[in-house]
Amino acid sequence: MKEQAARAVSECRRIARMSEETDRTTRRYLTPPVRDVHALLRNSMEALGMAVSVDAVGNLRGLWQPPGAGARRVILGSHIDTVPDAGAFDGVLGVTVALELAELAQQLEHPLPVEVIAFSEEEGVRFGVPFIGSRAVAGRFDPALLALKDADGATLEDAIRAFGLDPARIPEAALGAEVLGYFETHIEQGPVLESEGLQVAAVTSIAGQSRFSLQFVGHADHAGTTPMRLRRDALAGAAEFITAMETRAKNTEGLVATVGRLQLEPNAGNVVPGTVRIACDVRHAEDPIRREAAAALLAEAQSIAIRRNLKLESARQLDQPAVSMDERLTAYLSEAIQAAGLSLKLMPSGAGHDAMVMAARVPAAMLFVRSPGGISHHPDESVLEEDVEAALKVGREFLRRLAAEVS
Ligand code: GLV
Ligand code: MN
Ligand code: MN
Repeated sequence: MKEQAARAVSECRRIARMSEETDRTTRRYLTPPVRDVHALLRNSMEALGMAVSVDAVGNLRGLWQPPGAGARRVILGSHIDTVPDAGAFDGVLGVTVALELAELAQQLEHPLPVEVIAFSEEEGVRFGVPFIGSRAVAGRFDPALLALKDADGATLEDAIRAFGLDPARIPEAALGAEVLGYFETHIEQGPVLESEGLQVAAVTSIAGQSRFSLQFVGHADHAGTTPMRLRRDALAGAAEFITAMETRAKNTEGLVATVGRLQLEPNAGNVVPGTVRIACDVRHAEDPIRREAAAALLAEAQSIAIRRNLKLESARQLDQPAVSMDERLTAYLSEAIQAAGLSLKLMPSGAGHDAMVMAARVPAAMLFVRSPGGISHHPDESVLEEDVEAALKVGREFLRRLAAEVS
């Protein structure tokens, strides 16, 4: 298992070099380096005797069918897109671990077919809306999404066609009734496991997310000649809003709120900013608290805009409810953690994952692997090989339990 863990980690590092940028890892949905990732993963899938395909939203899928097995299968996977200047393990580790688990399933002579899915999009970076890959597999892809535009003005539909795929075939990506469960391994992306000296945890639930964009429009003016009282500074308005957002989140237990993206026009040192667009991300484990916070923040933005004589436009990108993992599968996973000789830890996830979309369609379970330093969405993101080895042992025990259920 040690060698398999080392291979799962080194494959992540190799994949991290497949990037849109030369000196850092950035791999947005269906950009050119995704072809290289597909080629590498396809090789591994074919070496495992899997039938490999790419569905119409660009998910790479490998299916291993044991001799004599029926159609009922288990799905293992995670995503292969990244945030800008990413680490090597967010998402990708779940795919390389899935491939190792598929091999372990073969060694166990597992009775169920195993499908490994490398989801094409989870982060929401290119089109502002996340989970494009898993939405299609879960049968929850809204065709209206095809009109979304990226920063260069290309639509989602254009991106799919440019990758050689046919948007009309997206419904074919959806699962039927034949799936027994979905299992995802993911780095924790936070400090909890490390602080408790633990290697892995079973995830109980995933926090909900609201994402919306705001545009403050004022007037671009000369920075030297326009008196302060006559300005309509869009950035000063956005800044006031961002501070109000931070204050609300700090004062609401469990709420996190972030403005992680800002576009400024005309973006010149001697011009009063005329237009500012910001991306807002609001999360809480309890949906009513998150929704109330998102609504209050929009009202706050409106009142700041009115007071400053700015025009405000808002667009909602996501209202993803919190999701519980499947109880039965999580019980198997808990048993598996103990059977692997590890102490049992159950915890919620603050980050979003493909499992939260898959859970709407199939029973889903998730395993977290300790994140050194709690660091993620940063190039210093890492993982310990011994923790990946522990995750593989747990995954094997989990698959054993699924096998026992069907045989
Ligand atoms: C995915 O990384 C998220 O934004 O939680
Ligand atoms: Mn992820
Ligand atoms: Mn991520």
